[in-house]
Amino acid sequence: MIAAVQERLIEWYRMEARDLPWRRTRDPYQILLSEVMLQQTQVERVIPYYERFIARFPTVESLARASLAEVISLWGGLGYNRRAVYLWRAAREVMERYGGAIPKDRRELQRLPGIGRYTAGAVVCFAFGEPVAFWDTNIARVLTRIFLGHEARPTSRELDQLAESVLPPDRAYEWNQALMELGARVCLARRPRCGACPVRGLCRSVGTTGEPRRRSERFMGSRRYYRGRIIEALRGRWGGMRLDELGWAVREDYTPAHREWLERLVTDLAREGLVEAAEERGEYVVRLPGGGETADNCGGGKSEKVVGSG
Ligand code: ADE
Repeated sequence: MIAAVQERLIEWYRMEARDLPWRRTRDPYQILLSEVMLQQTQVERVIPYYERFIARFPTVESLARASLAEVISLWGGLGYNRRAVYLWRAAREVMERYGGAIPKDRRELQRLPGIGRYTAGAVVCFAFGEPVAFWDTNIARVLTRIFLGHEARPTSRELDQLAESVLPPDRAYEWNQALMELGARVCLARRPRCGACPVRGLCRSVGTTGEPRRRSERFMGSRRYYRGRIIEALRGRWGGMRLDELGWAVREDYTPAHREWLERLVTDLAREGLVEAAEERGEYVVRLPGGGETADNCGGGKSEKVVGSG
């Protein structure tokens, strides 16, 4: 049964796979970048950002040399900007600790900032061709449905074991890409398209309905939305913005009554290193970190004083 699933899924992938830019490269830096961008963002949205990022920062070294402000600015509308901070820090560590060569070892990779078990596995498999198993939400859903049934709720450890036990070692690249492809296009969370599935005759969950919508998603979405808006608003504002000014920039209905809400968002962003917030002449001023460093790329603001977060 496992062999038949492997056979059909890989065959389907060979016929149907989307031609995605990161599937045309084995460069570990480019693979790493794509996987980090894809962690919380859909493929179609990632593609233009990925291409722009690679054009501006084609190597680990170029990324490591850039200012964090420029990196975040290029990352901009992709959201979850913390990913950009970690990636930049990881690039600097790769320069310092590994002479610019991304490590081939999964555990070494996992020591780098922002690289978890999934991302390390994906890099080792997609860049270095190693037969390793890994899973994210999509792969977990696909594997669970096919092999365990739609009501199963495996633990992380059980998912590790499942992913390993069904991995074809000599075709790990295609298998792992195929699982992702199926999860993105056929084995959808809420409305699985079982009629279009290459393994429907072998799947333990064929014909079952998807997961109900979770209520917390909408709430998380709005917080995330405003975090992104804040970064957007600060881009190119090297002198920073006063808290209320920022508030008006990020929501139409802003009033000073929203100040506490905004301050909490800004404080979280500052704690994550995504913005700097400092008191200046009795006012709270927010800006992107290291704003002065790239002021010359952004027209104006060059002579503005950059105040640290102290
Ligand atoms: N999501 C995460 N990694 C991916 C990949 N390599 N291709 C398509 N979607 C993905």
